Amino acid sequence: MAIHGVEDFRRALGAARRVTVLSGAGVSAESGVPTFRGAGGMWRRWSATDLATPAAWARDPGLVWEFYDYRRQRMAEVRPNRAHIALAEFEARWTAAGRDFTLVTQNVDGLHEAAGSVAVTRLHGSIWHVRCVSCGQVTPNRDVPITPAFAGAGSPDPATKTRWFGPGDLPFCKCGGLLRPHIVWFGESLDAQDIGNAVAAASRCDVFIAVGTSAVVYPAAGLIPRARAAGAVVCEVNPEPTPATPDVTVHFSGPAGEVLPGLLDGLPG
Ligand code: OAD
Ligand code: ZN
Repeated sequence: MAIHGVEDFRRALGAARRVTVLSGAGVSAESGVPTFRGAGGMWRRWSATDLATPAAWARDPGLVWEFYDYRRQRMAEVRPNRAHIALAEFEARWTAAGRDFTLVTQNVDGLHEAAGSVAVTRLHGSIWHVRCVSCGQVTPNRDVPITPAFAGAGSPDPATKTRWFGPGDLPFCKCGGLLRPHIVWFGESLDAQDIGNAVAAASRCDVFIAVGTSAVVYPAAGLIPRARAAGAVVCEVNPEPTPATPDVTVHFSGPAGEVLPGLLDGLPG
């Protein structure tokens, strides 16, 4: 089916039974959460991708916690925007009509859940959970700062004199193990069940929407061609083209908070 604009897309969506959405950092940009790539991706002299690694953690867990504490401070202040709300409201109408919906997100900020999304598969973990490096237990944790030692720390300004945070400053599990952010870092594998759910949802949907993702981080980015190969109408929402753009059915250029309501509101009719 040729899809040329919003009306064509809404017709295809209205006729669908199963919808899968893949979201990325761009969905939270209008809430004020910095994206990873492009402007806003730096913290002091490091890019987020330098610190979100097992090597950075092994070298200096205090620095990694200071970086995540800063992100938690920022994320504690933000609210869902019109894109999160359009997705949550769509899910409610869609599932009430007996249709199938899955939201796969690469975001760790919890804003989809805050907006009311229910069927969320979090591929890259959650900034509001911590995990023990010894016993593996995952627990919800909304402490900001993560420990009192981090009060007033975390400034992203490159001129900040970096302070050393030692073992006495870091968060620990009841078992005595160090707690780390429950986030999938570069070089780590995704949870097998989460990526399994995501692959199944991409493979069985009639319409797939990729929104606010640069489509360069795998395996998440691989869900887009997978949905296309399985015969879905694949729509991309992003103000910029991405490596996935040439292969999608239709690209809607613009911010998610402006574009998504126009695509989803009122459906299914
Ligand atoms: P990126 O930061 O790589 O890409 C953000 C995308 O959002 C870009 O393509 C922007 O053009 C687009 N964008 C910016 N503002 C937007 C808006 N208002 N509406 C819609 N789109 C907008 O983020 P991700 O693709 O999510 O991994 O990055 C993937 C993964 O790389 C992240 O989950 C993270 C990172 O390293 C982990 O934390 C494991
Ligand atoms: Zn433990």
